[in-house]
Amino acid sequence: MPHVHVTDRSGEESAIDIRPGTTLMQAITDAGIADLLALCGGQCSCATCHVYIQDDALAELSPMEQDEDDLLACSSYRKANSRLACQLRLRDDHDGLRASIAPEDL
Ligand code: FES
Repeated sequence: MPHVHVTDRSGEESAIDIRPGTTLMQAITDAGIADLLALCGGQCSCATCHVYIQDDALAELSPMEQDEDDLLACSSYRKANSRLACQLRLRDDHDGLRASIAPEDL
């Protein structure tokens, strides 16, 4: 089964199985990684699923839509490799992707 590597805020990395067609947010929450709050349930309205994607994987992801860009613009921790995990639908070829959970905006 394909998997992704997720690093939580304490620096602990987990390899988690993914089901193609689901989002990275669903995969992380299904794996029980509590740092990713995903408060809006994937409706692109909270930004609590903010992650950093390993740079060389960014081009493999779906392009960022305006609403995702607008939400990330409100984060104090936005970087060039920031994405919202609920907007990233996973495919088989995302096997091995690495992501880390961004600090929480207060
Ligand atoms: S879960 Fe709320 S924006 Fe992603």
